[in-house]
Amino acid sequence: MLGLGNESLRKIPTDDNCMIKLRDLENAIQEDREQDYHPFCVIGCAGTTNSGSFDDLEALADIAEREDMWFHVDGAFGAWVKLSDTHRHLVRGMERADSLAVDFHKWMNMPYGIGCTLVRDRLAHFSTFVYGHEAEYLKSAFELSEDQLSNPHNLALPLSRNFSSLKVYMLLRAYGRKKYSRLIQQNLDQINYLAKLIEGDDELELTAPVVSNVVCFRFKPINSDETETEKLNRLISAEINKNAFWMISDTSINDKYMLRACNVNHRTKTTDMDFLVREVKEIGHRLLNGV
Ligand SMILES: Cc1ncc(COP(=O)(O)O)c(C=O)c1O
Repeated sequence: MLGLGNESLRKIPTDDNCMIKLRDLENAIQEDREQDYHPFCVIGCAGTTNSGSFDDLEALADIAEREDMWFHVDGAFGAWVKLSDTHRHLVRGMERADSLAVDFHKWMNMPYGIGCTLVRDRLAHFSTFVYGHEAEYLKSAFELSEDQLSNPHNLALPLSRNFSSLKVYMLLRAYGRKKYSRLIQQNLDQINYLAKLIEGDDELELTAPVVSNVVCFRFKPINSDETETEKLNRLISAEINKNAFWMISDTSINDKYMLRACNVNHRTKTTDMDFLVREVKEIGHRLLNGV
């Protein structure tokens, strides 16, 4: 949208915990400056899509502050761990972001689509879209309005839009923080339970660290090699997703194919985790036996 292009994006390597390597980030900023580029924004993730991992947001905020750069956090689903007692430490430092993206239509289970970006500096936000560029036909309305900085017209690309925030307001009022906290905690506990089931099973393996509400895993029968394992798991995923009753997602981390369970559904039951493990193994064995 800004026309900066993909070449302006520097991807920073991550470690075994799928977290940005801080030293590599610092080196990248340094190298760019030496080549006369102007790095201006550090982006951290609170809950990566693949594995639900969290960057060290406090450390990223320190680097951004030291280097005088904007600090953006993508917390599309992960930001909501802030509501959990056991996992809120993962978002320490998120409150220092200059901007934070969160979705209400993911872990908050609100109807599509209600993405949200919070920007700390109201004037910077406002002047991005308006300052000095008011269209002629809007000028009188603009002058009449008392609080220009809060007028939604001035804070995003569209002028005409739905009253999307109404559903957020209504649901927050109806359910309240306590209920959302309980539901998010419940999803996290269920994922812990699933991770334990997988760890305790000789034919299943965890393929990424379990940090929040995502479990990446594979069916890996004893003695099966990498190629067979990948083929088998691709078939398992296809077989499951043929079925209209339930579905599973998949991904690759460091070129390794895996199944991925991301638990954001407030109606998930712990027994669904038992079902998932049972089905994956049953389908896996059926495929192995050519049935
Ligand atoms: C971390 C993260 N950021 C951004 C997105 C994009 O989501 P949306 O287009 O629904 O806002 C996703 C989707 O899964 C995500 O997991």
